[in-house]
Amino acid sequence: MKTYEIREKYLNFFKKYNHEIIGSASLLPDNDPTTLFTGSGMQPIVPYLLGEVHSSGRRLTNSQKCFRSQDIDEVGDNRHTTFFEMLGNWSLGDYFKTQQIPWVFEFLTKELGLDPNRLYVTVFRGNKKLGIERDVVSVLLWKDAFSSVGIEAVDIDNSEINGLQGGKIFYYDESKNWWSRYGMPEKMPSGEPGGPDTEMFWDFGEDLGVHEKSKYKDNICHVNCDCGRFLEIGNSVFMEYVRTEKGFKSLPSKNVDFGGGLERIVAAENNVSDIFKIDVFNEAIDVLEGKSGLRYDENTEIKKAFRVILDHVRAATFLINDNAYPSNKDQGYFVRRLIRRAVRFGKKLGIDNEFCGLVAEKFIEKYKVHYSDLEINRVNILEKLVDEEKKFAKTLIKGEKEFVDMFEKNNGISGKDAFILYSTYGFPLELTQELAEEKGQLVDKDVFIKEFRKHQDLSRAGSTQKFVGGLADDAKETVRLHTATHMLHQALRTILGDHVVQKGSNITQKRLRFDFTHPQKITKEEIKKVEDLVNVNIKKDLIVEYQMYDIKDAKSSGAIGVFDDKYAQLGGKIKVYNIGSESEGVCFSKEVCGGPHVKRTGELGKFSIKKEESSSSGIRRIKAILEQN
Ligand code: ALA
Repeated sequence: MKTYEIREKYLNFFKKYNHEIIGSASLLPDNDPTTLFTGSGMQPIVPYLLGEVHSSGRRLTNSQKCFRSQDIDEVGDNRHTTFFEMLGNWSLGDYFKTQQIPWVFEFLTKELGLDPNRLYVTVFRGNKKLGIERDVVSVLLWKDAFSSVGIEAVDIDNSEINGLQGGKIFYYDESKNWWSRYGMPEKMPSGEPGGPDTEMFWDFGEDLGVHEKSKYKDNICHVNCDCGRFLEIGNSVFMEYVRTEKGFKSLPSKNVDFGGGLERIVAAENNVSDIFKIDVFNEAIDVLEGKSGLRYDENTEIKKAFRVILDHVRAATFLINDNAYPSNKDQGYFVRRLIRRAVRFGKKLGIDNEFCGLVAEKFIEKYKVHYSDLEINRVNILEKLVDEEKKFAKTLIKGEKEFVDMFEKNNGISGKDAFILYSTYGFPLELTQELAEEKGQLVDKDVFIKEFRKHQDLSRAGSTQKFVGGLADDAKETVRLHTATHMLHQALRTILGDHVVQKGSNITQKRLRFDFTHPQKITKEEIKKVEDLVNVNIKKDLIVEYQMYDIKDAKSSGAIGVFDDKYAQLGGKIKVYNIGSESEGVCFSKEVCGGPHVKRTGELGKFSIKKEESSSSGIRRIKAILEQN
């Protein structure tokens, strides 16, 4: 079957079970500054999983466009892509495990005809510390499902140590069988929904010798082993918990969040262990083979270059279609990076003239049946792609020349040189590294990163702070309102509850504007309480100071706030601002933020909320000012 057919089959299957088919949301999330891209099918559904009423009812299904920038370096193997479609079905407090598991089984085995002998599943082992039990209900349901096709499904624990042992159902801990947007339970910030999950895997077969040929060959093979023999094709998350400051609490209703990678399901149905061999990529591969004179299957190196180009051009096509244009900022930065990387890998294949537009056209042809806007935006998409490709070609020529000059002059390339090449000529670090390696030298990446940060801090201080503070400028008034925004954020969480999450912030010299999740209008009494709480803490004249945290530790330290994917890409440290000293036990607010802030809260004057209104579904908006005392 083709990708198009499987997508249609899936949507119609769930329609038959009374689900409303909803469209795919944009790849650029609306009103959610906590993330740059839509990275899973459930992301646009989060407010409804938290309890808000969806206008299309309590059973929903769709195929959601997703982009995961963090997977950019994984691309090159048989199954990772940055862009993908996720087939989803949701129960918003309607059905639960008893329906979900038999339905998914029916879809995979009856509707698609996948051989149940080659399907394997995993379930949550349970964790006493979290107070969450082993998922025996799912195990029984899977046993029933398999037994309906004459298979006795044996459940096995510790397969990661002892191997498959003829099992069909495998238990794993929360690192594998728990899902939230942030991963494992301890990584989830307060207010975030999540739950145990059960995942489905397709076995490409032991005979292919995938495990033995992989880098995992010395370890035992099990369904989650990453060697590529087993492919995860679906995940039913039982979203019934929300993280709070004091552990997990049940959500108002038990929800189901299913997500299955469309391309992976097609690969399983076609029984090809390489997802780039499914129909959506065929013609694009032909273009690249024609341009390079090389075959996709020629060797591992060449295959990797093909895969990177295919993935990156497809992702850039869809991102531009959703109005993310190549630039140095925000989402545009990733579009630029994708195109430039594709061009570099094109060079590796010996392609010296333009090719991105030709490849993109093949994707537009393939996808326009379902995404008709691709056809409407065709001219614009191709123009933006080709422009960037041309610009980068010039950069490469100039950058290489500079590199040679620098190398000769300094007898090598330092981390600082690499940063100059990057910041002045747009020449990517990876390329500098490659050229240096050819000359037998390594570039000091730490120095490069240090320079990069220095530069970013400088430009942050002066420019619009869309993702960090929403500041229009860094005038004293704006900075005061910025600190007040942190205090408001915390006060809302204290008074209304931990479900309050920042959804937007915009600050001028005159007022602050703050958008956040909350299901209903805020009462006059609540507004008064929030104002009072902020003003009491202003009067305490609390110290405002920051600490540096490892990005990975910032959220678990209890800090709230917005994360910047660009920083996360580099790893390393991030600023966390405290209002009130933690060591003195008077910390009122702790939030990830780039600054700037006032030194003490006494500088703020009197905080006053001027307006409370709805911003969009499930999002409230507050406008507030600071009056002189
Ligand atoms: N939200 C779940 C996932 O992305 C289904 O895997």
